[in-house]
Amino acid sequence: MKVYENYSLLHHNTFGIDARCRRFIEYETADELHEALAVLREHPDEPFLHIGAGSNLLFTRDFPGTILHSAIRGVDMAGGNADTVLLRVGAGEVWDDFVARCVSRHLYGIENLSLIPGEVGAAAVQNIGAYGEEVEKFIDCVETIEVASGKARVFTHDECRYGYRSSFFKGEGHGRYVVTHVVFRLSCRFAPVLSYGALQKEMERRGMHNPTAEELRRLVVDIRRAKLPDPSERGNAGSFFVNPVVSEEKYRELAARYPDMPHYAMPGGVKIPAGWMIEQCGWKGRPLGRTGVHDRQALVLVNLGGATGSDVVALSDAIRSDVRDRFGIDLHPEVNFI
Ligand code: EPU
Repeated sequence: MKVYENYSLLHHNTFGIDARCRRFIEYETADELHEALAVLREHPDEPFLHIGAGSNLLFTRDFPGTILHSAIRGVDMAGGNADTVLLRVGAGEVWDDFVARCVSRHLYGIENLSLIPGEVGAAAVQNIGAYGEEVEKFIDCVETIEVASGKARVFTHDECRYGYRSSFFKGEGHGRYVVTHVVFRLSCRFAPVLSYGALQKEMERRGMHNPTAEELRRLVVDIRRAKLPDPSERGNAGSFFVNPVVSEEKYRELAARYPDMPHYAMPGGVKIPAGWMIEQCGWKGRPLGRTGVHDRQALVLVNLGGATGSDVVALSDAIRSDVRDRFGIDLHPEVNFI
């Protein structure tokens, strides 16, 4: 276990915010995690936070407590049958390395989730999704340790209560369990999901019909690289807001005013892309101080260099206010403010 005091988080958040924490602990095994939890118990009045690669976080100030980070690695076979394979993966594995490994070993399902930044544990907490797939579909169970008791608990898929960018661990269970491993169920047969608009469009442009898994992965990687800024060049945390789901009635009112508005029917209403609304408000590519809105995808806010968390919050507030005035919709951050 490694313990650092008064530690800079600059390299632990993709927004590139130079905040500090009182204590940073990285552990490599479940035993080390128990030691780390004992350190937390020595400081009961201080907050703690568990992070992955920090690709969905915004530090708005220095963190007055302990930050934990998992370096639990490993990908092991955990069972399966003629059609599927179970893989037990350490929470600290890099998500995209895992996707690449699965594709090269002919285990299928998660190709559409290629190049999503972050680590495996956080992927299971956030229910990452892209191009018509969500990771929950491939999660068999999640192994955790309860912070208060140190006891191991395995959550079945249903117990994780997954929804769009949400789970038990993000909601009610927030801060109560640390994910140590995630067990994925992947398919031995390639059955691509190609229905998402952006995929269709790019396949048409390339004259591609029946992509292999390798080709699909490459396609997704190329689309993401073209649209989303590389955090090592320009700090960002991917989509900054979740896409709001509005009532049928609200959708009809907006569609009358904006006939070209993109929209997706959902079980509870109609999803309107926040990026489209932000673009309509004139924010796409626009700077505000040391921050700005990405010029190729308006749902992504960027650090133009040396921004603080408060700078990003100021930009977020300005965008939310404009979207509220124009569309009567409240945008909610997808990024976690710390
Ligand atoms: N749009 C615009 N202007 C923009 C951005 C988008 O008009 O600046 C329109 C697009 O033309 C399209 C629609 O909005 O009609 C949807 O855009 P896109 O396909 O780029 O997806 P998104 O809804 O903006 C979501 C996820 C992304 C994920 C993509 C692809 C959320 C919050 N975001 O974005 O996830 O990669 O779909 O599946 O659901 C992330 O979570 O960090 C992330 C990047």
